[in-house]
Amino acid sequence: MRPPIRRPLVIGNWKMHTTARTAKHLAREILAHVPARLDREVAIAPPFTALAAVGPLLDGSPVRLAAQDLFWEDEGPFTGEISGPMLKETGVEYVLLGHSERRIYLGESDLIVSRKVQAAMRAGLLPVVCVGEDQVERDAGRAQQVVREQLLKSLEGLPDAEVDRLCIAYEPVWAIGTGRSASAADATEMHALIRLEIEARFGADRSERVRILYGGSVTERNIDALMACAEVDGVLVGGASLRALEFARIAGFGAPGRVDS
Ligand code: PGA
Repeated sequence: MRPPIRRPLVIGNWKMHTTARTAKHLAREILAHVPARLDREVAIAPPFTALAAVGPLLDGSPVRLAAQDLFWEDEGPFTGEISGPMLKETGVEYVLLGHSERRIYLGESDLIVSRKVQAAMRAGLLPVVCVGEDQVERDAGRAQQVVREQLLKSLEGLPDAEVDRLCIAYEPVWAIGTGRSASAADATEMHALIRLEIEARFGADRSERVRILYGGSVTERNIDALMACAEVDGVLVGGASLRALEFARIAGFGAPGRVDS
């Protein structure tokens, strides 16, 4: 059984999809399905250019705003980068960090991720740190070792008192965008390992509060099986979060409502 202190969290990662205009439409479609009361916490992560447009639409709704990344300094000569305080002022609450697409395409290292985690904490944001092995690492029997290393290095320098505000997303690279999700058994095993590592590093009380999400080909077909795992505290959804009705079902929303254009 998941302790009540870990309220389930569902985040939609829109990646590099939508312009500010189409993001508003998608957000409105999602909001049309939101019931007054939610059992799960829900957030959507549009691209940076759509945050300011989508944020005000979420005001007064239970859906929170998330960003897909931030830079590790708060301001300065860092052309093209976006800082924690900028996101905070735009109404962002959650920020994804160390997503495998950033690790792969932009060479983000665990050291960079750890600096970003601290920047997010400084800005009063809730970091969602992504970790996960690729297919070659899994086939070589190194999945646990890779995840453990990414996790501990990404959390280096994090003060104990801030662990309560941390979320981890276990996202096996081979499951992202492939339609091949991890099995409930594989997710359970890796989530348990992640919790043990956090417990060893920060103590049992603090570890109990950290939500561990699963990500990688989550759909309306596998959400129930995944959420039934005691160690799965929520999900990070990519592709399916761009389909309003499916995302609403994954998030556990009620009957569809009306969509204003
Ligand atoms: P997916 O992506 O749901 O499309 O597999 C998940 C993610 O990358 O966060």
